[in-house]
Amino acid sequence: MKNTAKLVVLGSINADHILNLNHFPAPGETVTGKDYQVAFGGKGANQAVAAGRSGADITFIACVGDDDTGSQVCQQLASDQIDISAISTIPESKTGVALIFVNRAGENVIGIHAGANAALTPALVNAQKDNISEASALLMQLESPLESVLAAAKIAHQHQTKVILNPAPACELPEELLSLLYMITPNETEAEKLTGVRVENDEDAAQASRILHAKGIEVVIITLGSRGVWLSDKGIGQRVPGFHVKAVDTIAAGDTFNGALVTALLEDKPMAEAIRFAHAGAAIAVTRKGAQPSVPWRHEIDDFLQLQGK
Ligand code: RIB
Repeated sequence: MKNTAKLVVLGSINADHILNLNHFPAPGETVTGKDYQVAFGGKGANQAVAAGRSGADITFIACVGDDDTGSQVCQQLASDQIDISAISTIPESKTGVALIFVNRAGENVIGIHAGANAALTPALVNAQKDNISEASALLMQLESPLESVLAAAKIAHQHQTKVILNPAPACELPEELLSLLYMITPNETEAEKLTGVRVENDEDAAQASRILHAKGIEVVIITLGSRGVWLSDKGIGQRVPGFHVKAVDTIAAGDTFNGALVTALLEDKPMAEAIRFAHAGAAIAVTRKGAQPSVPWRHEIDDFLQLQGK
């Protein structure tokens, strides 16, 4: 039976090694950093944490290695209100790793070793068929094997579970996967990769959205950094601005946006209100360092919105 408020997130888990620098090293250059931190991350885990902390009833499908990091991260995820029973520990493998540089402007560049994330096979996805089919929504990203993302989308679609894809990191996607999506949330780079349209203004965002709608996707939300997002709901477009805060570190801002957005939609908030809620979550996240350490709890988002006069 369908649980109307249930969310399943499928995605990656990483240990993020984060180094803060004045500027990114050029090829051949060595730059001494100021601050080094190891924190839990991974786009899937960050979005799961954002959903859990903002109040969703969520199960997370993922893989960790049989190392200390894997068991520590699972404990942390459980304390973030996430059902971790669908996380598999992969023998003789290491939990995923992300090497991240953050510059003075709070921007980041990331290199990834997939580790155990690469072992999230279609067979493991099929073992979670009941969880996926009983949920109202399935939220995924692209740090897991594409064939597994497709397998999960097929199960969800067959059982009227809405499929939401945050297509990060950017890559070209098969038409079959796109046709199974209810909603997609690319940033400008990802939107260009998927549509060929360079997104520099609202008209470009509307054009890219039309291309994505033509592939069968009902809702397109293109994130535009400090300009907010372009929302195109069945072809009706509008820009929804975000909140202006002083960013210290944008790691996991997009992940927080996605996790909080889906949480709010599962609470039946209207789309514009859900986006505002998600903007608030992301605005708080960029004022803090790291991925999961920066993700706010529900009461922090509510307080932030109240301060903004909503
Ligand atoms: O979106 C941010 C995340 O991307 C980081 O936590 C890192 O692990 C990479 O997956």
